Amino acid sequence: MTVTSSRLKHEVKDLSFAPLGRQRIEWAGREMPVLRQIRDRFAQEKPLSGIRLVACCHVTTETAHLAIALKAAGADALLIASNPLSTQDDVAASLVADHEIPVFAYKGEDNETYSRHLQIALDHRPNIIIDDGSDVVATLIQERQHQIADLIGTTEETTTGIVRLKAMLNDGVLTFPAMNVNDADTKHFFDNRYGTGQSTLDGIIRSTNILLAGKTIVVAGYGWCGKGTALRARGMGANVVVTEVDSVRAIEAVMDGLRVLPMAEAAPLGDIFITVTGNKHVIRAEHFEVMKDGAIVCNSGHFDIEIDLKSLGATSTEVRTVRNFTQEYRLQNGKSVVVLGEGRLINLAAAEGHPSAVMDMSFANQALACEYLVKNQGKLEPGIHSIPAEVDREIARLKLQAMGIAIDTLTPEQIEYTNSWTSGT
Ligand SMILES: NC(=O)c1ccc[n+]([C@@H]2O[C@H](COP(=O)([O-])OP(=O)(O)OC[C@H]3O[C@@H](n4cnc5c(N)ncnc54)[C@H](O)[C@@H]3O)[C@@H](O)[C@H]2O)c1
Repeated sequence: MTVTSSRLKHEVKDLSFAPLGRQRIEWAGREMPVLRQIRDRFAQEKPLSGIRLVACCHVTTETAHLAIALKAAGADALLIASNPLSTQDDVAASLVADHEIPVFAYKGEDNETYSRHLQIALDHRPNIIIDDGSDVVATLIQERQHQIADLIGTTEETTTGIVRLKAMLNDGVLTFPAMNVNDADTKHFFDNRYGTGQSTLDGIIRSTNILLAGKTIVVAGYGWCGKGTALRARGMGANVVVTEVDSVRAIEAVMDGLRVLPMAEAAPLGDIFITVTGNKHVIRAEHFEVMKDGAIVCNSGHFDIEIDLKSLGATSTEVRTVRNFTQEYRLQNGKSVVVLGEGRLINLAAAEGHPSAVMDMSFANQALACEYLVKNQGKLEPGIHSIPAEVDREIARLKLQAMGIAIDTLTPEQIEYTNSWTSGT
């Protein structure tokens, strides 16, 4: 299954999948005009020339465009998967065969392989790490302190990774600059909300072929991903219940017209449960116990910790696979609970992740954050840095331009008015 050639070290499922991957990468590119423009400029200017770069991302068609842009910029880039179930094997094959980018990833890799790939990534001695969930950075800090001197900085893609970076900062171990891509407006407003919102439902539909209209869907967490998921589920005709721990977010859900309940009260009502909190054991033994027979449970948060599958397994008499990415647990009380995608990100396990149009902006941020790190090498303090506001605005401007949408500009009179405090009523 795993192929390694001497010409270019890699570990992908099958290089013969490359033609299909090439076709799918090309298709995704139609929706990625911003990253295309950045890649074209990078090819001219080579801002990452000589930089050893590791990207730990979901290996999808969109990530392929990021990797190609980084290579065009002159980077010596190596790609590993940020999740054992999200790799698209045809894309991995095409990146190796058509673009000579080393990829170490295949769908369904076990945890031991995942950890081995993290080590291979660090053997590349990266100057820049693009991380999604902070696993490479955490491994670097824990196991390869001596390599930190090689590092110019890191960029982080997702909310959970940012939470981990903040914990590293608090512990005094984040001794290099980290760019917070997740919190760029052109990232989380779109990727987390519209991307996760749509693709999570896509993953549920692909794995179950179930009708959402009329179902009660419980969404745990009303953050950016939760809002997108809940409001799209309502748009599909579901009755949506939200669970939260943050009072402001809970009020927001209420005012968006959704029912808010504690999980203990939502558990007996739901037909489908979706966790998107970034937190641990949000659905656990006492909840499974009171669920309806056949309730469906899945997760779209970063790690597979939100649903306590260990306790579900312990109280089950039988587990059987009923469809792809769909396992039915028979509980001791005679009822069954259906778990999708082994509790891993359902939008990447059973569907294709976010649509390309949103990843266009997320990965434009990634590419520009790498360029920013190199341009500012030695000038940035250790710690977590925001993407500069002008980068955010430029990405939005390029996206609008590509969509053929024009907006107004401030008139001189309006500029004067907004800069003045003397003109009132
Ligand atoms: N599936 C994907 O493709 C994808 C994309 C982007 C982000 N993510 C991941 O999704 C998760 C959520 O991201 P986000 O940007 O929405 O984060 P966020 O911080 O905006 O929202 C998380 C929400 O969950 C709530 N929460 C925390 N613990 C809870 C609990 N026990 N019960 C109920 N609510 C709880 C928080 O109060 C918060 O409102 C993260 O793990 C992130 O990395 C996944």
